[in-house]
Amino acid sequence: MEKMYLLLNKMKSVGLVLGLIIMSTLVSCVKNPPESSFKTTPYDIKVPKGFPVITYNPLNPMTQEGVALGRKLYYDPILSNDGRSCSQCHFQANGFTTFASNSLVHANLAWSTNFLWKGEVSGTLEDQMVFEVTKFFSTDVSKLNANEEYRGLFKKAFNITTITEKDVAYGLAQFFRGLVSYNSKFDQFSRGETDLSPSELNGYILFTTEKGDCFHCHSIPLTTDNSFRNTGLDSVYNSTNWGRYEVTHNPLDKGKFKVPTLRNIELSAPYMHDGRFATLAEVIEHYNSGVKISSTIDPIMTKPGKQYGLKLSVQEKKDLISFLKTLTDTTFINNKAFSKP
Ligand code: HEC
Ligand code: HEC
Repeated sequence: MEKMYLLLNKMKSVGLVLGLIIMSTLVSCVKNPPESSFKTTPYDIKVPKGFPVITYNPLNPMTQEGVALGRKLYYDPILSNDGRSCSQCHFQANGFTTFASNSLVHANLAWSTNFLWKGEVSGTLEDQMVFEVTKFFSTDVSKLNANEEYRGLFKKAFNITTITEKDVAYGLAQFFRGLVSYNSKFDQFSRGETDLSPSELNGYILFTTEKGDCFHCHSIPLTTDNSFRNTGLDSVYNSTNWGRYEVTHNPLDKGKFKVPTLRNIELSAPYMHDGRFATLAEVIEHYNSGVKISSTIDPIMTKPGKQYGLKLSVQEKKDLISFLKTLTDTTFINNKAFSKP
């Protein structure tokens, strides 16, 4: 009898639970009918061996749909009010820079925490893209909202019916996070897949030891440490070359600029924030013999042994350039997944 009672009780609670499940499914179906049909395909970034972990933005998970949308937006003048598209100043063939200006190389920005030469934006790629869309392009989202194709694409990627500037930025950010360069000759060498020539190897040694002393700032494998530094390009700093100081107003930041990635650097002349050097040979000569002293120069530039420059031989300068050229990633440059859809 007691057993029977217990069994009945159990059945009651099972029934109750079942009822609750059925009811809550019904309620959620009625409340959010579109959610059930919204499905995206995850986009996995292959993080290359030896690279740091990527910090994703949990608010903007990577999806095939989001990346495809960002790619289309990147190549579309619809974002601007003067007929320009992002790609117009950032050519894939030049590592997403242009030979006519001092725009920064776009590769491996997934690992960046500071953006633009003076670091006007810090945070994630989403923060940088909000800047691009709202401040730089002042994108008129009503054009996108009036465009049936885009309404469909945004719905597929983000399940939204009204497109805001934030959504545009998030799409672009996903495309940018996927721009990973990891197949240069140097990467292949690091993975033990190929050898460097004697000149490239010597350049690599110069780059990564105190003799050339590049690696403290252009740290391997990203070739940047994400910091701001004064590399002694000028001896006097005023409103034309204040750099990071313009953002922080800290006098110690005068003349500091973002340490740029050197990936695809062979393809992205002219060099430095103001494009003052036309060739890599000029850049190397700056580090070798052109460094100018000022109160905010980075201590690495003037440390013992470097007061009179690096004193590199003609061959050593050539070797450094040979090494820099091993950072060219033709797989990345020619990757159809990054080109105009
Ligand atoms: C008129 C040319 C031009 C156009 C158009 C343009 N850019 Fe740029 N971009 C630049 C220049 C120049 C810089 C470097 C400026 C600076 O740092 O002060 C830059 C910097 C950037 C950076 C920073 C990279 C880094 O390493 O910090 C990103 C990201 C970027 N652009 C993305 C975009 C996107 C997205 C668009 C379209 C919405 C776009 N750009 C349109 C010229 C352009
Ligand atoms: C103290 C840090 C530091 C050291 C050391 C250093 N760099 Fe740089 N490098 C920078 C910064 C910062 C910039 C950008 C400077 C600017 O535009 O004002 C830069 C710019 C460059 C550029 C141009 C990048 C572009 O997109 O225009 C090249 C090439 C380069 N460095 C190569 C080297 C090499 C080779 C060495 C070693 C001989 C070296 N760097 C040592 C910090 C450093």
